[in-house]
Amino acid sequence: MKEAITVSVTGAAGQIGYALLFRIASGSMFGPDQPVNLRLIEIEPGMAALEGVIMELDDCAFPLLNSVHGTSDLEDGFKDTNWALLVGSVPRKAGMERNDLLGINGKIFTGQGQAIAKAAAPNVRTLVVGNPCNTNALIAMNNAAGVPNEQFFAMTRLDENRAKSQLAAKAGVHSSDVTNLCIWGNHSATQYPDFTNAKIKGQPLTSVITDQNWLEGEFISTVQQRGAAIIKARGASSAASAANAVVDTVSSLTTETPAGDWHSVAVCSPGAYGIREGLIASMPIRTNADGSWSVVERVPVDEFSQGKIDATINELLEEREAVKDLIPA
Ligand code: NAD
Ligand code: LMR
Repeated sequence: MKEAITVSVTGAAGQIGYALLFRIASGSMFGPDQPVNLRLIEIEPGMAALEGVIMELDDCAFPLLNSVHGTSDLEDGFKDTNWALLVGSVPRKAGMERNDLLGINGKIFTGQGQAIAKAAAPNVRTLVVGNPCNTNALIAMNNAAGVPNEQFFAMTRLDENRAKSQLAAKAGVHSSDVTNLCIWGNHSATQYPDFTNAKIKGQPLTSVITDQNWLEGEFISTVQQRGAAIIKARGASSAASAANAVVDTVSSLTTETPAGDWHSVAVCSPGAYGIREGLIASMPIRTNADGSWSVVERVPVDEFSQGKIDATINELLEEREAVKDLIPA
């Protein structure tokens, strides 16, 4: 048996937590031979519900679940952790944009960044899910002194999955036939799902879906507005599909990316594609055989795509300006 990996999850008693923990404990995230320790973090009002979730985890008798610990103390929660999954925060309601949450949620991520720096394992990787996730990840990263920037991520995989599903339905194929789909920029209504480089069964997507008006219009706006559409329909924001995207993101960051393909996750920009260095922005990422990640280079960016990428990066710059007080100089 391998040595157990430690995974910390904030907001563990929330909607996403409830859909996520059982997938981690059952082996969906790290594979069928990888034991896990779960360290579950909630704020005080969530602790009673968290006790119930822990009882249910116990009642599953998962073979791969080595230990479970619940706490409201951040340093205890992140102790020796290898993966910090930052879910805990307030979701938006109908009529709000995700960055309307910055004032409420942004400050959560200063203390969490500091506690990760103090208590986590040196190789800790942090994935921010709580919205607005790119800028919350920026805050956590900048408050986690000593933890390399390459170890911070924000989730845009749900958007990639949504985009693949829409494209597959239009083309009459399975979503797994759609590859090379990159979400650029912010997990927000300005995100750009780049269909221009996508492929269907290895062929250029635009040779299979020739309705350019649909691609440039309805397709992009459906993906950009999917979170809002789910809130409207369900009365609560996406949870099971979000948890599934967390599983996919971590799995893609821990297994080598198939040759020629890429996956979407927001990383600390190294300045690639002219995206301002230090912003947490989504771009095409490959996971290498040694477990490191790289930005996929020379993905063509035409004039239409460049305009869309500029718009979403500008929004990230505005969000960074709005939280500058939470980012140490
Ligand atoms: P929820 O309200 O059901 O659960 C959130 C939980 O976080 C609650 O149990 C709450 O007690 C806890 N919490 C609040 N502040 C905390 C803190 N400081 N430390 C620890 N725990 C804290 O919400 P949810 O539906 O699970 O959504 C969580 C977040 O994920 C929201 O911000 C939502 O917008 C976001 N989200 C992101 C994506 C994405 O693709 N990036 C997708 C779906 C949802
Ligand atoms: C989503 O994309 O479903 C989440 O970010 C929740 C939201 O507020 O849209």
